[in-house]
Amino acid sequence: MGKNNFSNDNYFFRRKTESENGYALTFDDILCLPGYTDFDPKDVSIDTTIGPFSFKLPIFSAAMDTVTETEMAIQMALLGGLGVIHRNCPYDRQLSMVKKVKRARSFIVREVATVHPTDTDVQVKLKMEQFGVSGFVVLDENDKVIGIVTARDLPYDQNKKFLVKDIMTKNPICASEKISQKQAIQKLYEIRKEKLPLVNKDNELVGLITRKDLRPEFPDASKDKDGRLLCGLGISPTLPSNPMDLETFKKIDELVDIFFTDVADVYKRDDLNGIKAIMENTQTPIVLGNIGTFEAAEAILTKWDFPDDKLLGLKVGMGSGSICITTIQTGIGAPTLFATAEVADAIQMYNPKIALIADGGLKNSGDLIKAFAAGADATMSGHFFAGCTESPGYIDTIGGRKVKVYRGMGSKEARATGTYAFDRYSNVKKLAEGVSDYVPFVGDVSGVMEQLCEGLRNGLVYGGAQTIQQAKHIKIRKITHAGKIESSAHDLLSRK
Ligand code: XMP
Repeated sequence: MGKNNFSNDNYFFRRKTESENGYALTFDDILCLPGYTDFDPKDVSIDTTIGPFSFKLPIFSAAMDTVTETEMAIQMALLGGLGVIHRNCPYDRQLSMVKKVKRARSFIVREVATVHPTDTDVQVKLKMEQFGVSGFVVLDENDKVIGIVTARDLPYDQNKKFLVKDIMTKNPICASEKISQKQAIQKLYEIRKEKLPLVNKDNELVGLITRKDLRPEFPDASKDKDGRLLCGLGISPTLPSNPMDLETFKKIDELVDIFFTDVADVYKRDDLNGIKAIMENTQTPIVLGNIGTFEAAEAILTKWDFPDDKLLGLKVGMGSGSICITTIQTGIGAPTLFATAEVADAIQMYNPKIALIADGGLKNSGDLIKAFAAGADATMSGHFFAGCTESPGYIDTIGGRKVKVYRGMGSKEARATGTYAFDRYSNVKKLAEGVSDYVPFVGDVSGVMEQLCEGLRNGLVYGGAQTIQQAKHIKIRKITHAGKIESSAHDLLSRK
């Protein structure tokens, strides 16, 4: 596998998916052919990269308000994928969600909960509840570390009054702010403590490392260089016009890892100009989307001069999402499989460093490998995750089945929340381009991911590809209506 070099063939992916012959095929129109497997199934890797970011799972959750908020983003990153927080809310709400993700499993906690030696039992217990923590670093009036107090230090008699200075462990062992993760693990082991305050040369508190945050509970977690979880964010294609929003947006920019322009069809002069302005005024790299054709990718990669370090990837697919009705309403669309192959050829031709994210329309784990065979580096889905415990919203019951609401960002229901994401679509504000419906409740995202990844790994083994990059060489064939029936369960008592 890997001998057939697609970088020398300008039509490699379009020919594979027959867009060359005038077809705009979808996942259900094709299957992938088996290939020769010369590796051990346990050596299959589904790792992928988007610019400088590495992911153990090539699956991202969509920027939709019934899919990705804090809880989903944390869980997706812990499992090795990426959650892209939606934009159907004010900027300060986005900031607060991003902050929570970036603080969730940080190797170094920067905003440390502290108390003073003269704080009372009432103040300490109240703070423990408020911050949801079981211990504090004790600071003197000059912000120097003089002690640690934890729940274990509280008197057994719950009514007993005390001051922090009476119960704290004095002069705790601290470490330099420059400590590495490996050194911190060793140090905490040596001192047999739960918490290690970090101080600067003047003994002022600059951070805290806790044993809990160093535990490799999630070995595949997607992390930044400081050990914090990676977080994606859906954004408008224009900079905020209101100065207060702009200020908040700048704060978001300092924290978040990847912006995803969240637009149904971004191949528009005004949107692309807006994105240029965003790139000039922010530091966060951008995945630009959505687009659906070779022509759009070619123009973006050759005519728009987006800086290399800012343009990380292209996100593709239009009208193919399970909640989308854009193609019904407007007649325009680009099925995700077709769009992937079109844009993959443009990327190979003009800038192979650009990542390609196939967005929407994935219904089964088998669709993942189809997306990779068509040239994708990662996939994005709302459909897979809207019914999970971690998606926003309540679990309802319909006809005895547990369900959750899943709505398109262009649905009337999502638009009723406010005008935050109106510029996701064209200027006609009243036309619904999405629907709202129920999806079955499917439990924790970890279970869903496990199934998806198992399907993907087995697909790679059958296809004879050991990695996502090698999957791009897997052959594709169009299937007939009869073939489609045959590839699903058939001719059984309940499936004619
Ligand atoms: P799935 O198939 O995972 O698709 O449900 C999710 C993707 O669909 C896009 N999206 C929409 N497209 N109208 C549209 O035409 C909408 O209301 C809408 N809401 C989301 C989006 O790209 C998402 O990732």
